[in-house]
Amino acid sequence: MRTPVSVEFKELEIDSIATMAGRIAVVVDPEGKLDTGARRVNRLCKGALARLVASKLFTTAKSGDVLSLAYPAGLAAEAIDVLRLSRRCSLEDARRGGANLAKNMDTGDVTLLAGNHTKAENIAYGVALRAYGFEDHKTADTESTGNLIVTASKPDEVAARARPLLAVAEGVFFTRDLVNEPANILTTSEFANRLVAMEYLGLDVEVMDEPALEALGMGSFLSVGQGSDTPTKMVVMRWNGGKKGDAPLALVGKGVMFDTGGISLKPAAGMEDMTMDMGGAGVVAGVMRALALRGAKANVVGLVGLVENMPSGNATRPGDVVKSMKGDTIEVINTDAEGRLVLCDVMWYAQEHVKPAAMIDLATLTGAIIIGLGHENAGVFSNDDTLCNNFLKAATIESEGAWRMPLGQAYDDLLKSRIADMKNIGGRAAGSITAAQFLQRFVQDGMPWIHLDIAGVASVTGETKYAPKGATGWGVMALDRLVADQFEKE
Ligand code: BES
Ligand code: MN
Ligand code: ZN
Repeated sequence: MRTPVSVEFKELEIDSIATMAGRIAVVVDPEGKLDTGARRVNRLCKGALARLVASKLFTTAKSGDVLSLAYPAGLAAEAIDVLRLSRRCSLEDARRGGANLAKNMDTGDVTLLAGNHTKAENIAYGVALRAYGFEDHKTADTESTGNLIVTASKPDEVAARARPLLAVAEGVFFTRDLVNEPANILTTSEFANRLVAMEYLGLDVEVMDEPALEALGMGSFLSVGQGSDTPTKMVVMRWNGGKKGDAPLALVGKGVMFDTGGISLKPAAGMEDMTMDMGGAGVVAGVMRALALRGAKANVVGLVGLVENMPSGNATRPGDVVKSMKGDTIEVINTDAEGRLVLCDVMWYAQEHVKPAAMIDLATLTGAIIIGLGHENAGVFSNDDTLCNNFLKAATIESEGAWRMPLGQAYDDLLKSRIADMKNIGGRAAGSITAAQFLQRFVQDGMPWIHLDIAGVASVTGETKYAPKGATGWGVMALDRLVADQFEKE
């Protein structure tokens, strides 16, 4: 597992600048005024910093951009990174600035001369989020990145503000590691083990195996894993940081370790991407880890359905009818529409046994959401405007793209089945919406609910604002903020 860069906060010893190893980062406002630390750097390198800051390169740079001076004379450091950032910059620019510093980071340390910048902790957060790599399966020796040292005029205050952010970064890393991990290693059992291993953080983790799920009547969920040799499991993680008796927020995640499509087999090209089909469960796990690490004062329960969708002699066939825990019967027209078959039972269990105040499910549910929204926004579906708007606000603040999509009776009608209570697909049109409608049939009256279709944002081929290519950890930051802002109120 990759742990975030270690960050140390301390006061600047001005005379140590000349001999600092690694890289030195200075923050310069758009007017080009140098603070105490930057002035000393400038003097040591005989004015090279001031010349860079006076150049067109700097004056045309955007907020959060980084320009570098390599191997500066007069300093032991291997480079000076100049971060353009005003004192009143946005949260996003501060984090993006940090992320840009992280891109230059190698095996050496980075010392950020933050002075009295008001968002120093968010610059550090940006460094932490971006300094990630998934190298567990590279046999060549991969050296870890160096450490981040933040010098500030009030280091204790910056450190205190950074602490919860760095806890969330660790949650994001946990999610990314799970999503990046191949399916032969991250089996349902391995996933469950990694969740149980979080008990030392104060989480209460319960694993339910196939006989237990059978006893609960989860015929829909179990039908997905029927063709796989790896056992289907449901894991319930409880974080009781809030008042005793306060109804929790329930987070439900789709955890399909690998999605071949089952008997409705997917084409070969690109099938390897389906190793990320446990992305919803990965986000739920990352949020739970973040909440525990920062000691959130809220009750939150994370539930994940872990399963593998394989074709085999005893796999579910198209046309089979299965019975959900709710009691409704489902005609499985397409075994590749398996995510909803997993979620409907886990969501029903959450409502019956956890009695949450609200429920949010996350799933890499449909390819159609990628056609609609690309890789910029997750699809947001909700039956509750207040909860939904609070989530959208949290996502906006955290720069995690999210876009609300409609629900409606006419879409629900597309799920009518000739022989069962419903079909598991609605047809080609509005594929993401009919998937959401299917889920809504398992949302009890009066339960505020959001469905997040993260198929387009969980893992991407290019780098994003805060992540290198691959798993992004999308949603951990927004959900953590939603909990902080809406569920931790005294
Ligand atoms: N896991 C896929 C959705 C998906 C597609 C996730 C691309 C990430 C990237 C899901 O189980 C699926 O196969 N959905 C089908 C539904 C269809 C059969 C109604 C799809 O989107 O094609
Ligand atoms: Mn599928
Ligand atoms: Zn799937």
